[in-house]
Amino acid sequence: MDPAKHAVHGGDFFRAIGEEFEDLSRSGAVVSADVLDAWYDPSPQAVEKVRLWLPWLMRTSPPTHGEGLRRVIARSRGIPEESILLGSGTSSLMYLAFPTLADRGSLAVLLDPMYGEYSHILERVVGCRVVRHELSAAEGFRPDPDRQAADCRDASLLVMVNPNSPTGSGLDAEGMERLLSLLPSGCRVWIDETYVDFAPEGWCCERIAARDRRVIVAKSMSKFYALSGLRVGYLVGDPEWIARLEPMSPPWSVGLIAQVAAVEALRDPDYYAEARRITEEKRVGLARELASLPGVEAVYPSVTNFLLFRVGRPGAAEIVRRCRELGVFLRNCDSLSPRFRDDHLRTAVKDDEANRRILEALRLALG
Ligand SMILES: Cc1ncc(COP(=O)(O)O)c(C=O)c1O
Repeated sequence: MDPAKHAVHGGDFFRAIGEEFEDLSRSGAVVSADVLDAWYDPSPQAVEKVRLWLPWLMRTSPPTHGEGLRRVIARSRGIPEESILLGSGTSSLMYLAFPTLADRGSLAVLLDPMYGEYSHILERVVGCRVVRHELSAAEGFRPDPDRQAADCRDASLLVMVNPNSPTGSGLDAEGMERLLSLLPSGCRVWIDETYVDFAPEGWCCERIAARDRRVIVAKSMSKFYALSGLRVGYLVGDPEWIARLEPMSPPWSVGLIAQVAAVEALRDPDYYAEARRITEEKRVGLARELASLPGVEAVYPSVTNFLLFRVGRPGAAEIVRRCRELGVFLRNCDSLSPRFRDDHLRTAVKDDEANRRILEALRLALG
């Protein structure tokens, strides 16, 4: 990945596996905690359907604009079909949508720290002026709606990830309601809800986005539904705005395997509710163990499948390097905030064996 051309992301573990996929059994030897993919498999009924029909699914053109998947999303999320736009992951939808939401020179507010793709696309692709709303470490990086709204006084766009990455915390339903009531009427709000299904019930704003013209929700099916490799995501917004985007959205952008798996996943809410419950248990355990490691100075509160923590010497970059030698890939968060200086790491919450390896690698690296 060339940082001059793209935002910095995790995913370096593919170098250890082999970027030309010669021997995928190597995936068992690495702990890919530098990306936030689910530690669990997709719903067994999704896996079974794909397994049963794989060659046919591989050679067949999918429904052109994912008509059936869109209907299933609408039914399962309780929103009108006309408020949904599908894409091959929310990443591709960002590149379609932002040029219609912001102009060169217009003012956009981002969070600090925050997922890096947004500053890349708004500053470098669209050419916005970007102001970063600083979340306070002392408050566990939880947004304060009043302070946030004050920073949006002159902005035409607020972009937030809720719950946020890399912090894991965010605004609950009450906080979001307050923020929306305080924002100036000319300011649109993009809420990236990639991790919202890990959070307590009631945080999701999809229904608000379907009725409030100012609000757009970006919903990835990568992480919570364990479909990162398939690339499925959607936007929820005002039907008029969605209708303006539709002619620009390419045909067959969501592959057939992805459409079938996503439909089956949405039909299996009980499986994912259990995955969420177990993820919470594992996160609480991992946070406790991390906090007890000498050299870990703070572990921040999280409602997601990942944890942000602050480290002292030998510094985040060196710790990442040492862990890598042990097959454990963690994320150095320097690129996610101008305030981070070789002192913040993020780890995904994984299964018990991988979490044990993460803790052991960190113990050695910090020592
Ligand atoms: C906050 C956030 N938004 C969006 C994405 C991209 O998601 P997708 O797989 O839907 O493109 C990621 C991926 O890591 C993410 O962390």
